[in-house]
Amino acid sequence: MIAGTPAAHESMPAELQIDAADTPRMQLRWHWPDEAACAASAAALAAAMSAHPENRDATIELHGPLGAGKTTFVRHLLRALGVSGRIKSPTYTVVEPYRAGELDISHFDFYRFEDARELVDAGLRETFAAPGLKLVEWPARAGAWRPRADLRLEFEPQADESRQVRVLALTPRGEALLA
Ligand SMILES: Nc1ncnc2c1ncn2[C@@H]1O[C@H](COP(=O)(O)OP(=O)(O)OP(=O)(O)O)[C@@H](O)[C@H]1O
Ligand SMILES: [Mg+2]
Repeated sequence: MIAGTPAAHESMPAELQIDAADTPRMQLRWHWPDEAACAASAAALAAAMSAHPENRDATIELHGPLGAGKTTFVRHLLRALGVSGRIKSPTYTVVEPYRAGELDISHFDFYRFEDARELVDAGLRETFAAPGLKLVEWPARAGAWRPRADLRLEFEPQADESRQVRVLALTPRGEALLA
């Protein structure tokens, strides 16, 4: 079996996806000359979640090279949602859980993942299927068994240290969060 590919006989829960090339419903670009601009985009997204709490149970994928600013964006988003205390990168723990009021938040980093069967061993599929906000760094390394993304952020660091981010809404919920 190819790592990350579920066996054909396994039935896939509806909330999970094959690594499908979803057609974006909406897309826009953020340009961040510095980290303050990143924080502003994160605050705007948090405000959209607070305005429509039914859209907070979203899955947001963060793509981009090492050091692109994915964890930094997550930190600003969690702060804006009201998370206090230390926010550390889940590079070694795979997932870090948080709570903001009534909202459960899971911050994943699959950089060190090698075989999607580890997901089952670690019980992560239950976390994927549970309600809450999911923020996923290096999602492709989780293989096919991962939550269906509402938003896909593609981080593109520029030579001058600024960041371009391509923002794709893949579901109606993702679209609503950008509206
Ligand atoms: N918008 C930004 N503008 C300028 N510098 C930034 C920005 N975002 C992050 N940085 C800097 O880049 C460094 C790496 O960022 P970060 O750890 O968030 O990257 P990452 O994409 O999560 O990397 P990894 O793939 O290793 O998890 C940080 O130390 C931070 O100082
Ligand atoms: Mg990171």
